[in-house]
Amino acid sequence: MKDPQNIAVIGVSGYTGFELAKILLRHPEAKSVTFYVREPQGAHCLTELFPQLRGCGQAPVRALSLDAIARSEAGTAFLATPHEVSAEMAPQLLDAGLGIIDLSGAFRFRNAETFRQWYQLPTPHAARLSEAVYGLPEFYSEQIAHARLIANPGCYATSVILAVRPLADAGYIASGSSVVCDCKSGATGAGKDLRRELQFAELDENFKAYNLFSHRHTPEITEHTGLPESQVVFSTHLLPLARGILSTIYVTLGEPQSHSPGASARGTHQFRRPRFRARFVRSPSCDRFMSGQSRKGRGRPGSTEFQSSFRS
Ligand SMILES: NC(=O)c1ccc[n+]([C@@H]2O[C@H](COP(=O)([O-])OP(=O)(O)OC[C@H]3O[C@@H](n4cnc5c(N)ncnc54)[C@H](OP(=O)(O)O)[C@@H]3O)[C@@H](O)[C@H]2O)c1
Repeated sequence: MKDPQNIAVIGVSGYTGFELAKILLRHPEAKSVTFYVREPQGAHCLTELFPQLRGCGQAPVRALSLDAIARSEAGTAFLATPHEVSAEMAPQLLDAGLGIIDLSGAFRFRNAETFRQWYQLPTPHAARLSEAVYGLPEFYSEQIAHARLIANPGCYATSVILAVRPLADAGYIASGSSVVCDCKSGATGAGKDLRRELQFAELDENFKAYNLFSHRHTPEITEHTGLPESQVVFSTHLLPLARGILSTIYVTLGEPQSHSPGASARGTHQFRRPRFRARFVRSPSCDRFMSGQSRKGRGRPGSTEFQSSFRS
């Protein structure tokens, strides 16, 4: 019988899939986790492919087959796969009765045209878009709890939405002002496939902006902050680092237009100034900036490290 706590994972050989494996293998609510790979290389167990996971249990590895997943007891499938692969696989697994948590961009938009325009890929199954829930628990935890198809947010988009949305919801952003999102990422954000600009000699001791005014995470940011595209300046940079994102966001505060706190009280941090009062999401420290290196390997599973600092 299908049980959502029995989990199938596709894409463990990729960067996000491997991080996902580390979380799932120690997750108290996961009864079983089976990893499906295109090339098992004779392995039956995940630690045969990734010896660094020794001590995390004997999770089975199987040759990828959607039929096998459909016939299995898995009730949830994670797709840590390219957009076009997720777009094709998710409907088949949904039809087989599984719930899907997709890490790609394939189901992040209600409007199929938005996906086509920004990703330059054929639109995924349009009927499925309307049932997908944007997987940002700070804002959509109730919908996520009942969803069969969860579209996890993009990395940059997460860093911007968590910071900006509480201010936007509370009406604190000065009307007509620009919200400047100056974002920087390490190279694993692009996945493991070979690309010239991600080679060591191109990346090392280098630093550059890319995809200015055309980054795919733009429509996620506007949709989930409620800000028009004309008000958002979203610039993305590639750092000579393997991983991590730092987003420095500049907002002009104005008199509150309305007070409608959009963030749920859970997991939020109250921040008070004489004239301003707003909620901020998971802010472990308001008085200290952490470097990427100091965070390395220390993040709590499933959590985003997030900090806010304000000057008024
Ligand atoms: N990297 C990030 O920081 C990040 C953050 C948020 C979201 N995402 C999204 O998450 C997804 C995965 O990203 P990633 O960076 O982990 O990618 P990645 O490192 O390139 O890994 C892709 C994974 O998908 C598998 N795969 C590729 N084509 C497949 C197919 N036709 N059938 C089955 N499996 C296939 C690959 O398996 P093989 O080893 O067999 O090729 C690999 O395991 C992408 O949609 C990405 O946009 C990435």
